[in-house]
Amino acid sequence: MSRTKHRPQVSIICGSGLGMLADSLECQDQFSYSDIPGFPQSTVQGHAGRLVFGELKGKSCVCMQGRFHMYEGHSLLKTTFPIRVFKLMGVQTLIVTNAAGSVADHLHPGDIMIIKDHINFPGLVGLNPLHGPNDERFGPRFPAMSGCYNRELRSLAHEISKQLDIAGLVQEGVYAMVGGPNFETIAEARMLHRMGVDAVGMSTVPEVVVASHCGLQVFGLSLITNKVVKSYDDSDCVNHDGVLEVGRLRSQTVQQLVTEVISRMEIN
Ligand code: 6GU
Repeated sequence: MSRTKHRPQVSIICGSGLGMLADSLECQDQFSYSDIPGFPQSTVQGHAGRLVFGELKGKSCVCMQGRFHMYEGHSLLKTTFPIRVFKLMGVQTLIVTNAAGSVADHLHPGDIMIIKDHINFPGLVGLNPLHGPNDERFGPRFPAMSGCYNRELRSLAHEISKQLDIAGLVQEGVYAMVGGPNFETIAEARMLHRMGVDAVGMSTVPEVVVASHCGLQVFGLSLITNKVVKSYDDSDCVNHDGVLEVGRLRSQTVQQLVTEVISRMEIN
């Protein structure tokens, strides 16, 4: 805290190919993750690995340019450490973005999905960042997750997408986290489809669980970068470069939407 004058109200985690939001912050202070005690290092191509403080539309923000994933081998407690750092800095809101594959037939590459809810597959089998002794200073032993994606922020985002004339690209849905790093088999993709999943990815949920536990309000966006393969007749297959390419193609639009949400959201 002594290394920056910023006192952020909003924290933003940038997903694959969506890191440029951090570049638009004014009066920046940057810290490489390797210089921050307790921070893991990010190892994925397309993720820069630094914390950027700055002003966006008059609001004080801190942006993670590059996030940590379970599949990199970090413990979930370690991947979500930044969230608790943000909480202790006085942050009230967490904004998460990610690249995701579409499971729902009505979501197409390039679409933006406002996250309405999630399915925490690792969590359902016991891989949860809140596993272990509960630190009551952050939140309760048994936190509710039923309202973790803030309704007002979701509705604000819909309103903004109409005003930006991108409402045709913006939908709302359920994000499922799987452990990765491999993409889904066809049988797994079909299972997700039947379970009510709209988009699937390998991130975001642990951070949201920890943020929600400590009382941060959460807003999440998935950029749909590809469709999951659900048919044995389909010769397509997903690859990380394709994911990054769609990220670049739509990053401006995602950035615009996030910027307007931050600009217009109320800070208490
Ligand atoms: Cl198809 N699956 C998963 N698990 N994560 C993704 C993805 C697919 N596309 C982007 N991220």
